[in-house]
Amino acid sequence: MKLANNHIFVTGGSNGIGRAIVRDCAEAGAKVSFVDIDVVSGEKFAEELRDAGHSVIFAEADVADFGALSKAYESFVAQFGDVTGVVNNAGVNAYADPVTMTDEEWDAFFAIDMKAIWLTAKLALPGMRKAHKGAIVIIGSIHGRLTSPNFFPYGAAKSAVIGLTRSLGVDEGKHNIRTNVVAPGYVLTSLTQGWLDSEPGRMEKSLAVQPMGRMGQPQEIAKVVSFLLSDDASFVNGSDWAVDGGLSARSA
Ligand SMILES: NC(=O)c1ccc[n+]([C@@H]2O[C@H](COP(=O)([O-])OP(=O)(O)OC[C@H]3O[C@@H](n4cnc5c(N)ncnc54)[C@H](O)[C@@H]3O)[C@@H](O)[C@H]2O)c1
Repeated sequence: MKLANNHIFVTGGSNGIGRAIVRDCAEAGAKVSFVDIDVVSGEKFAEELRDAGHSVIFAEADVADFGALSKAYESFVAQFGDVTGVVNNAGVNAYADPVTMTDEEWDAFFAIDMKAIWLTAKLALPGMRKAHKGAIVIIGSIHGRLTSPNFFPYGAAKSAVIGLTRSLGVDEGKHNIRTNVVAPGYVLTSLTQGWLDSEPGRMEKSLAVQPMGRMGQPQEIAKVVSFLLSDDASFVNGSDWAVDGGLSARSA
């Protein structure tokens, strides 16, 4: 029960990696609140976890909408007390051409994959500073350090969150607030499945380059996240953890 007495707030917890994080934190003893735009899955999942005896609450919020995000956040704090750990997981892929991408498309994408992370920190930091304790985990990507063709501007956003993590780590360390990135490689979720399905043979090609001969499972990311949220990681701050089966260690 390494997260007992914690209130962990997760974005994008209805599906995929976020869902595994919500479950793992709840099973580690935390009270867990999460937001998502997928309300049907979010409500059903929260109910399933409550039926299993966990303290879990869900609210609909688009992380790009600060009004909705703040409202959900405040209601969670009213129910579970100040947030002790935040997991910024909500994210979308972005494939674009730098010439044809519009301002609106850029802003809409960065609002989710980048700006929302700062907005969530803006909400959580006052309570964490007051408590002189806190942990923020940002789900980045191997695309923060290396990328593949046609992933503009995903690589830009996932690199930017590493910079944000360094700054928060340096600035908030004195308040005993630790900020870290977890950077998954290929993890089998609907996000990856959509990309794998978009070109014949992509699955075989993607598997062929995996040093461990397989892709990751969401719970393999969640275990690293819950470690970083816990006191077991009390001196881990401002860092970027690759959880990619060795993919980013490989030369082309
Ligand atoms: N799956 C991978 O291989 C992989 C690899 C590297 C990084 N990541 C990152 O992991 C995170 C989760 O990805 P996933 O694969 O689990 O994706 P997913 O699509 O399976 O799940 C993402 C969840 O976030 C929610 N979401 C999307 N936009 C939202 C918004 N604006 N507001 C609130 N919720 C929103 C979705 O409804 C969904 O429930 C993302 O940040 C992604 O970039 C994933």
